[in-house]
Amino acid sequence: MAKYKIALLPGDGIGIDVLDAAKIIFDKIKLDAEYIYGDIGWKFWCSEGDAFPQRTIDLLKNVDTALFGAITSKPVKAAQAELIPALQSKGLTYRSPIVRMRQMFDLYLCLRPCKAYPGNPLNFKEGIDLVIFRENTEDLYAGVEFYPPPQELIDALGKTSKPFAAFSKLPPDQYAISCKINTKAGSERIVKAAFDFARIMKRKKVTIVHKANVVRASDGLFLETAKDVAKQYPDIQTDDANIDALTMWLLKNPFNYDIIVAPNLYGDIISDLCAQMTGGLGFGCSGNIGSKLAVFEPTHGSAPKYAGQYKVNPIATILAVKMMLDWLGEKDKAVQIEKAVAAIIKDGKIHTYDMGGNAGTLDMAKAIAERM
Ligand code: NAI
Ligand code: MG
Repeated sequence: MAKYKIALLPGDGIGIDVLDAAKIIFDKIKLDAEYIYGDIGWKFWCSEGDAFPQRTIDLLKNVDTALFGAITSKPVKAAQAELIPALQSKGLTYRSPIVRMRQMFDLYLCLRPCKAYPGNPLNFKEGIDLVIFRENTEDLYAGVEFYPPPQELIDALGKTSKPFAAFSKLPPDQYAISCKINTKAGSERIVKAAFDFARIMKRKKVTIVHKANVVRASDGLFLETAKDVAKQYPDIQTDDANIDALTMWLLKNPFNYDIIVAPNLYGDIISDLCAQMTGGLGFGCSGNIGSKLAVFEPTHGSAPKYAGQYKVNPIATILAVKMMLDWLGEKDKAVQIEKAVAAIIKDGKIHTYDMGGNAGTLDMAKAIAERM
């Protein structure tokens, strides 16, 4: 029996292209692993009314870790329209399978390193090396949403919230409610993970992201909890920043930042910004980490316009494989992959379209595999 069981979940669009590239890397490192492909994504929503079928949930319960490509998500009306006719009248509602997976398996830590590898023509500035800790299960992604809001909710909010009066006069089909739910325990564990990482990796500072001056209840709780956690780490510098100001400061002086910890939505936004500063979405890798399971992925989506063309950059996914090996404790293999990626970037001889070249997805993966 192999030492590891690894699920490969390509999903939709370029998720398939980049997982084919990842397989080239897995084959090269000769990890003692069994790879099992699983179904996820838009096509399964259309054909069976479930983008995250039970068989895939069962698969994830039986593997050590998984590599996920990307999925396509569409708004409510488009999702209904694309269901096969036999399913259209069943009242099914679409929810992103990756968001469901993060919640179902309590993959609370979304780890997103953003490092400018020397020589990358797409680096905003050389030397950027940021690590984002994004809370991954709560906040505006909690999935507690209403459109139109039910009467019981309108009545309850009318009794308990003064600002709600302005909205309650509207006909229910004229407004929607999405709840931002942040818990003390959820905030505590993500902030603690960020500080523990800072200590182990000998990093100097943790920045707490919020908008507590306006979103007083949920972001207020996140900030207050984070500051309490920070007291246990006097050896690490701490500061905090409003999400809007932070986007400006990050562009102005990225070297003032080191580790960034944020609630779910702000973390999502900041990680695309930081990915762009270090090469773009073709370089952004991500780990969804829980206490039992971890699922690794590129941060990008399914980029439908490039689907099946094997032209997008596989480096984000290959760096996600590197993160997986770190998590499995296969440090030497992780270093081997990262060194090869860094060497190929530094050589500057092979570039995918985003880097200004013509190399295909699999050409890039093969070049990296040859350097290992
Ligand atoms: P996207 O990330 O799929 O693509 C945006 C653009 O970034 C692309 O058009 C392309 O120019 C560039 N890009 C992305 N990946 C690249 C790569 N590997 N190499 C080079 N360039 C790359 O975001 P978009 O277009 O907003 O969303 C497309 C679909 O993906 C939507 O249905 C969205 O819901 C879904 N999505 C899924 C995610 C996931 O599976 N975790 C994350 C983000 C979006
Ligand atoms: Mg995102």
